[in-house]
Amino acid sequence: MQDTLFTVNGETETFGIIGNPVHHSLSPEMHNASFRALGMNCIYVPLPVTDAHKGVEGLKALGFKGVSVTIPHKQDVIPDIDNIDPVAEKIGAVNTLLIKGRGIKAEKTVYGYNTDWLGANRALEEKISLKGSRVLILGAGGSARAIGFGLLEAGAEVVISNRTINKGESLASRLCCRFCPLDELDQVKADILVNATSVGMVPEVDNTPVPGELLTKFSVVMDIVYAPLQTRLLREAEAAGCQIVDGLAMLLYQGAAQFELWTRKEAPLNVMQEVLYRRFK
Ligand code: ATR
Repeated sequence: MQDTLFTVNGETETFGIIGNPVHHSLSPEMHNASFRALGMNCIYVPLPVTDAHKGVEGLKALGFKGVSVTIPHKQDVIPDIDNIDPVAEKIGAVNTLLIKGRGIKAEKTVYGYNTDWLGANRALEEKISLKGSRVLILGAGGSARAIGFGLLEAGAEVVISNRTINKGESLASRLCCRFCPLDELDQVKADILVNATSVGMVPEVDNTPVPGELLTKFSVVMDIVYAPLQTRLLREAEAAGCQIVDGLAMLLYQGAAQFELWTRKEAPLNVMQEVLYRRFK
C-alpha cells in the first residue's frame, strides 16, 4: 500500500543539511519523522557540500526552504546570509538557514540562526530557571561559545574553564565573564555545570572532566557528549544528587527549534525524541 504521507511530488517542500561529512547526521531521520507525523508534504535530505558559498547558491536556485548547517560550514555560510539573527552574529556561527521567496524566479532572502544555544537553554530550563543562575562551562570551542552566549542571553552568570588557558581566557573575554583554570574549580560557586568538551566521549569513556567529589555543589549537570549517552560525568553527577541533562537533550531541542523556524508549527518533540533515543539506547 502506498504511504500517502511519504509521497514526493511537485508540491513537496525541500529541506536538508549541508556539511562535510553529513552521512552520520541524525537530522534527516529526526526531521523526516516529524514531517510525516504532522502529515506535511516536506522532505529533508543530507547534502555533502565542500564549498559553503556554492552550496547556498545551489539551495537558493533549487528552491530549498530551509537547511541545517554543520561542520565545517557554520562560519563559512555567514557571508551568504542576508539577515542574521543577532545572537548568531555574536556567536559567529550559524546552524540554521531559512530561505524565503516564493516561486522559481523570485528573489531569495536567506535568514541565518543558531539553534545550538536555544537547544542548550531549553534542555537546562526543563530542570532549572536560568535567569540569575551561575553556570560553569568547561571548554572553549564552538559549542562552549554558543552555549555561553545563549546562557548570557537568558540572564545567567557564566564562568569559563578550559584545558588550554589562553583559549579559555579569550572566550571569557569575548563573553565578558570570568575564567577559572581547571585546577582551581573547587573555588568556583555555581548552580549548573556544563561539559562542552569532548572528554568522556567514546572511545575514552572512562575519562571525566571534573573529579566526582566536586560535583555535589551543582544542582544540575549537563553533558554535550551523547556517545555514550550516560557518560562517567553524568553517572557521578547523579550519584552526587545532581539533576542531569544528557547530550541528546540539546540535540533534540536544537532540532525542534529549527523545525519551528522553518514550519512555524510546534515541533513533535515525542517523535523527535523517539528517533534520537532509539539510536543511543
Ligand atoms: P567544539 O566545536 O565541539 O566545541 P572544539 O572546538 O574542538 O569542539 O573544542 C573542544 C573543546 O574540548 C576544547 O575546549 C578543548 O580544550 P582545548 O582548548 O584545551 O583544546 C576541549 N578538550 C578536548 N579534549 C580534551 C581533553 N582531553 N581534556 C580537556 N579538554 C579537552
